[in-house]
Amino acid sequence: CNIAVLVSGRGSNLQSIIDNIESGYIRNASINVVVSDVHDAYALERARDRAIDAIFINPSEHGSKKDYEKYLIGILEEYSIDLILLAGYMRLLGNSFIRRYKNRIMNIHPSLLPSFKGLDAQKQALEYGVKVSGCTVHFVDEGMDSGPIILQQSVRVLENDTVESLSERILEQEHVIYPEAVKLFVEGKLKVQGRIVLTRNYER
Ligand code: GRF
Repeated sequence: CNIAVLVSGRGSNLQSIIDNIESGYIRNASINVVVSDVHDAYALERARDRAIDAIFINPSEHGSKKDYEKYLIGILEEYSIDLILLAGYMRLLGNSFIRRYKNRIMNIHPSLLPSFKGLDAQKQALEYGVKVSGCTVHFVDEGMDSGPIILQQSVRVLENDTVESLSERILEQEHVIYPEAVKLFVEGKLKVQGRIVLTRNYER
């Protein structure tokens, strides 16, 4: 399975996928390319450090979103990509891109969806006063953080939590369930039926 990871920042989720491929937890898969829309994203360094091709696409050099995504698709085709992972990628993908890679784009979001979609999910959760939050891996559809849910992990919200402390506790679980979801995909164990994702023959 040829994987592309799209990033915009720190890249800790990218790192967790790299580590789980290197350790053999995820087999028969490789990250062939990492693409960032931010030129100094630390994620690019993490990729280069592991000898993975790391490409910066400058959105301002591509007139429209369509042109930008055309260029991106060109890269994905060049690398024969089967699975696209969004890992802190801060741009919404267009409908035609999403349709082209239907059920082959995953995202990780730091809340238990469908609660707290969009930006600052951990802050939204704290301000709402929920006692439990968590993270979600889902397939990307045309909406924002609305696609079929693959895996979720809950995390307790503590009374003295700050955005930072809650984010950190959620992030630890992101680094567990994202590799797990990728492993399931690579092993052909995910079956999407409308909104519902079934995981077949799977034991932890
Ligand atoms: C994570 O919190 C992820 O859930 C969200 O963006 C953040 C990315 O972190 N989509 P990193 O770049 O993977 O460290």
